[in-house]
Amino acid sequence: MTTVVTYGGTFDLFHIGHVRLLKRLRGLGDRLVVGLSSDEFNSVKNKNAIIPYEDRRENASIFAMGADWIGKFDDLQDVVRVVSLSRTQDVSTTELKTASSEIRNEKNRQIQSLASHLRRLIEKL
Ligand code: CTP
Repeated sequence: MTTVVTYGGTFDLFHIGHVRLLKRLRGLGDRLVVGLSSDEFNSVKNKNAIIPYEDRRENASIFAMGADWIGKFDDLQDVVRVVSLSRTQDVSTTELKTASSEIRNEKNRQIQSLASHLRRLIEKL
């Protein structure tokens, strides 16, 4: 029985990069144990998860680790095989959050512009 252990994932806004990582890690052994960052650990990592720990725990019942952690766990090599997998290109929770906040800001700008347009129209009446 080969057990694969991975650590360091927030798995906030679960995306295709997370799915691929978990599938590949699971393929390395018979069972996969996924360490999920608690909200407290996230604050140490300066990560502000949108989805609370209790909910993220349901999404990611398995735990994984990718290339962001290369070299960080090398000292475990005497007791366990340490494996890092490359990240899926062009997808990241931070980028998803930035994009959604840009969309929100753009919507706010449009609403403000519409409101001032309406104000000018009303003033002319
Ligand atoms: N991961 C991955 N491919 C991606 C994104 C993440 O393989 N495109 C892996 C990371 O290497 C990590 C695990 O998924 O081992 C959990 O990553 P997490 O930090 O929760 O997600 P990110 O999308 O990397 O979040 P952020 O952009 O906020 O760092």
